[in-house]
Amino acid sequence: MFKYVIKGTAFSSVDQKNVKVFENSLFCISDSGIIAKIVSSDEKEYSEIIHEYSHKNKLKVLTHGQYILPGFIDLHIHAPQWAQAGTALDLPLYEWLNAYTFPLEAKFSDEQFAEKVYGSLVDQLIKNGTTTALYFATVHRKASVRLAEICSKKGQRGLVGKVVMDDQEQNPAYYRDLSSESAIQETELFIKDVLVLNETTPQGVYPVVTPRFIPSCSDESLRGLGELAAKYDVHIQSHCSESDWAHSFVKERFGKSDAFALNDFGLLTEKAVMAHCGFLSDEDMTLFAEKGTAVAHCPISNAYFGNAVTPVAKLLHEYRVEVGLGSDISGGFSPSLFDNIRQAVISSRMLEDGVDKDCCSQKRGVPNSSITLNEAFFLATAGGGESLSLPIGKLAPDYAWDIQIIDTKELPIFEKEEPLMDIFQKILYLARPENIEEVWIQGRNVYNKTMGKQGVED
Ligand code: GUN
Ligand code: FE
Repeated sequence: MFKYVIKGTAFSSVDQKNVKVFENSLFCISDSGIIAKIVSSDEKEYSEIIHEYSHKNKLKVLTHGQYILPGFIDLHIHAPQWAQAGTALDLPLYEWLNAYTFPLEAKFSDEQFAEKVYGSLVDQLIKNGTTTALYFATVHRKASVRLAEICSKKGQRGLVGKVVMDDQEQNPAYYRDLSSESAIQETELFIKDVLVLNETTPQGVYPVVTPRFIPSCSDESLRGLGELAAKYDVHIQSHCSESDWAHSFVKERFGKSDAFALNDFGLLTEKAVMAHCGFLSDEDMTLFAEKGTAVAHCPISNAYFGNAVTPVAKLLHEYRVEVGLGSDISGGFSPSLFDNIRQAVISSRMLEDGVDKDCCSQKRGVPNSSITLNEAFFLATAGGGESLSLPIGKLAPDYAWDIQIIDTKELPIFEKEEPLMDIFQKILYLARPENIEEVWIQGRNVYNKTMGKQGVED
């Protein structure tokens, strides 16, 4: 009655602070790639299931030193910017957009170029353990549909947005929507195309309404996009209160914060994810919590463009806002959510302690700001799933079988009986892409390092 059974030791968040260890458990996977059942070794049916499924040749047993983690959910990534990842980080946000990023993104009118970059990125993300990604593409509808098709074909769960940037003053003539009307029309066509593609994509591909950020959009397009998101009940993404400049630009234009301005246009919903949010006020955070809108925390990118550390602990614990983790390629240089987990912990600790030695120690930092490794892991997995309102990011019945298998033989594990939570910490702090042995999405194997396999067969 199961498609197959996997036997191994796994780690999964159960809530924001706690990680559960499934020691030598059986993960029973349904035909549609869902976790039907998890059976622990003290349960009666444990040996029966092993017997039955090994007999049928449908039992996979992890080898010594291999561990299962949920696949990562990258809650904010600019797919075209993969072509400049690791470069161009010497300017602040506004200048960076105009000097490097808009000229690069304009090149995605060429669908062949788009295909090359997007194919490479999706392969790399899967190899880095990212099983779901919430992507910004570019203003070009056709190339954006190509990104959704590439996710569909390569087996990754992709949520993809055709970017809207129609403001005739804020955007360069060579790279913008022609008008607010065409921005809305193109977005609607895009939504329809991706909804059709989703019907034949087992892991799901989803269209996302994507105003780049308020400074790049006219009032008309913001209003039209809010209406489209409601009409089709689709996800929404944008940037919100990212930097001193972005935050004050919106305050000047509307006399209110990004959060309240976005809400006026119907853009803060349960299915909305806003990147960065470093400058949210207490009222903004309350609004996010009320609306069920999530924050995509991008700690590496924030160190370059953010001008401040997003107060993740406050968002999570004081205001109960949903938060996940994003790479923000290429504002963040790394496609790895392992790297972003590490930076999330580090940045939060620096926010708590403060950084200027000449400031007295009582005033140097912001108390109660640091997050634990478990919390950062939650952000990269279960927090991302909650943010997207999808059953992903956790090992639990009725969740998708989206996992990565980590091989720890090259990690510093020397004791026979090393505590499993120590191994978990070593994986999170030390694992590199080379230590990811296999990746499975919606029950399908999409990557096997040793066999040199990438892609889906069926
Ligand atoms: N704000 C508007 N566009 C962008 C972008 O491409 N990257 C980041 N980090 N912030 C933005
Ligand atoms: Fe971004």
